[in-house]
Amino acid sequence: MLLRSDQPTVSTDHRRRMESATGDFVSPYKLLFRALTLIPISHYLLIAFFVFIVFVYNLLEIHILQDIIGGFGGGHVSFTFNSSCDLYREVVSKCHLLHGRYLATPWLSSPHLQTILLNVLIKTPIFNYKRELFRTSDGGTVALDWLMNSGVSETSFEMNGTNSIADIPLVIVIPGLTSDSKSPYIRKIAYSMAKHGWNVVVSNHRGLGGVPLTSECFYTAGKSDDLGEVVNHLHRTQPETPIYAVGTSLGANILVKYLGEDGVNVPLVGAAAISNPWDLLIGDRFFTRAIMQRFYNRVLGNSLKGAAKLHQEAYARLSDWEGIEKSRTIRDFNNYSARIAGNFDSIDAFHRWASSARLVTNVSVPLLCLNAIDDPVCTDEAIPWDECRKNKNIVLATTQHGGHIAFFEGISGKSLWWIRVVEEYLSNLHASSMRKQQMQKFKDLSNETLQFEDSLSQDKKKLV
Ligand SMILES: *[C@@H]1O[C@H](CO)[C@@H](O)[C@H](O)[C@H]1NC(C)=O
Ligand SMILES: *[C@@H]1O[C@H](CO)[C@@H](O)[C@H](O)[C@H]1NC(C)=O
Ligand SMILES: *[C@@H]1O[C@H](CO)[C@@H](O)[C@H](O)[C@H]1NC(C)=O
Ligand SMILES: *[C@@H]1O[C@H](CO)[C@@H](O)[C@H](O)[C@H]1NC(C)=O
Ligand SMILES: *[C@@H]1O[C@H](CO)[C@@H](O)[C@H](O)[C@H]1NC(C)=O
Repeated sequence: MLLRSDQPTVSTDHRRRMESATGDFVSPYKLLFRALTLIPISHYLLIAFFVFIVFVYNLLEIHILQDIIGGFGGGHVSFTFNSSCDLYREVVSKCHLLHGRYLATPWLSSPHLQTILLNVLIKTPIFNYKRELFRTSDGGTVALDWLMNSGVSETSFEMNGTNSIADIPLVIVIPGLTSDSKSPYIRKIAYSMAKHGWNVVVSNHRGLGGVPLTSECFYTAGKSDDLGEVVNHLHRTQPETPIYAVGTSLGANILVKYLGEDGVNVPLVGAAAISNPWDLLIGDRFFTRAIMQRFYNRVLGNSLKGAAKLHQEAYARLSDWEGIEKSRTIRDFNNYSARIAGNFDSIDAFHRWASSARLVTNVSVPLLCLNAIDDPVCTDEAIPWDECRKNKNIVLATTQHGGHIAFFEGISGKSLWWIRVVEEYLSNLHASSMRKQQMQKFKDLSNETLQFEDSLSQDKKKLV
C-alpha cells in the first residue's frame, strides 16, 4: 500500500497537538525542564538522601533488611567435612553454639562495621600477663605472655589441692597480622579462656609485643617455624599437659601452615583457625578489587610499615627500606621486605609459599576452621573446600555473616560469638576420647624419638 503524502505521520500529529495546547511550538525538553523546576527543592534533597542511603547500604554490605525479613532469627552454620570425620561426630556435633544460629548485633549488621569497629568496641577487664622470653634456635626472641586460670578465677583449680598443673589444659593464642597480646580481641579471648578454666599463653610474633629483633630475621606472613619451636618448647617443659592452639586471621594461616608442615609430629591435642586468609595470592588479588578492599589494603599496609619502623635498621640490612617506606599496600610491603629477605623470585611466589591452603591435606590434629562468607578482609574465594573435605581431621564451619574475626552478637554488642564457639569446642574436645588418643600418640612418638636417639648413641659408641 502506498503512503499518501497528505496523510499525517504520528510525529507530526503529535507536534500539532502540542502546538494547539500552548498556542505555539514548544520543545518537549523545555516542558520537562519547566516541570522539574516546579518540584520543591526539599523533594530533591530527599531523593538525594535516599540515593545516598542506598549507596552506603551497598557499600557497607549492610544486611539489616535481610535480618528483619528473617525475623532476627540469624543464620545457621554450614559444615564441610569428610564423612569419616571423628572430630565432627565426637566433638563438633555436640557444640550447641555451632548448631544454633548466629545473628549479628542489629546496629552492626554489616561486615565492614563489625571489622572496622572490632578493636574500638571491645572492653576487657584489666589484667596483666606474665612474660616469658623464648629464644628460638636462630637466636630470635619470641615474647610468650601467660595468663593463668588461677590469675583470673576466684575458685582456682589448683586450690582444690588434688589437682596438679598438668590437669589444667593450656591454650596457645596466635594473634593476627600486626596484633599482639595487647590487642583488644586477643585480650578478650585470653581472659575468656582463663576464666573458663584454661591456662593461656599468647605467642607474639617475633619483633612484636615490644621485644627487639635479636637475630638477622624478621617475621613474615608465612613464618611458621617460630610457632613450631614454641609448641615443642611448651610440650617439652610440660609433657603431661594437654596443649591446644587458636590462631586468628594471619595467625590462623601461620597455625595451619605449621600443622601441615609438621604433620604427625605436632604435639597438640587440637586447634582452631578463625578467619584464616588461606591463600595469600587470592587474598592479594582481592585487595585490589573494590573500594572497601583497597581501603583495608592501605590501612593494613600502613600498620605493617609502622611495625617495621620499630626495627628499621634490621629491615634496612635485610631488605629494601626505601621500597618499604614508599609502600602503600600489603603487596608492596611484602615485595620490598619478605620477598627480598626470603630470596623469592617474585612477590607471587612468596604469597604462594606463605599460604596455608596448600598444606591443609597434611594436617594431622583435630582442627576446627571458622570463616564468615562476608569477611571483607579474607575472601571466601580462598577457602579450600575440597581439601577440607579430603582431610578427616578437619571440620570447616562457615556463616553467612560475621565479618573478620568479629562475629558481634547481642543487642549491646559486647559479646563475640567466635570466642564462645572456640571455648565450647575446645572444652568438648578436651572432654572427649580424642584427647586421650592424641596424648597417647605423643607418648608413642616421644618413645620412638628416644629409641631413635638411643640407637644413635649406641651407634656412636660402636664407632668409638
Ligand atoms: C574445684 O573446686 C571447686 C569448688 O569446690 C569446684 O567448683 C570445681 O569443680 C573443682 N574443680 C575440679 C577440677 O575439681
Ligand atoms: C607432611 O607431614 C609430614 C610429617 O607427618 C612431613 O614430614 C612432611 O614434610 C609434610 N609435608 C609437607 C608438604 O610439608
Ligand atoms: C617488586 O620489587 C622489585 C624491586 O625490588 C620491582 O622491580 C618490582 O616491580 C616489584 N614488583 C611489584 C609487583 O611491585
Ligand atoms: C574422605 O576421606 C577419604 C580418605 O580418608 C578420601 O578417600 C575421600 O575421598 C574423602 N572424601 C571426600 C568427599 O573428599
Ligand atoms: C617404649 O617402647 C617400648 C617398646 O615398644 C616399650 O617396651 C616401652 O614400654 C615404651 N615406653 C613407654 C614409656 O611407653
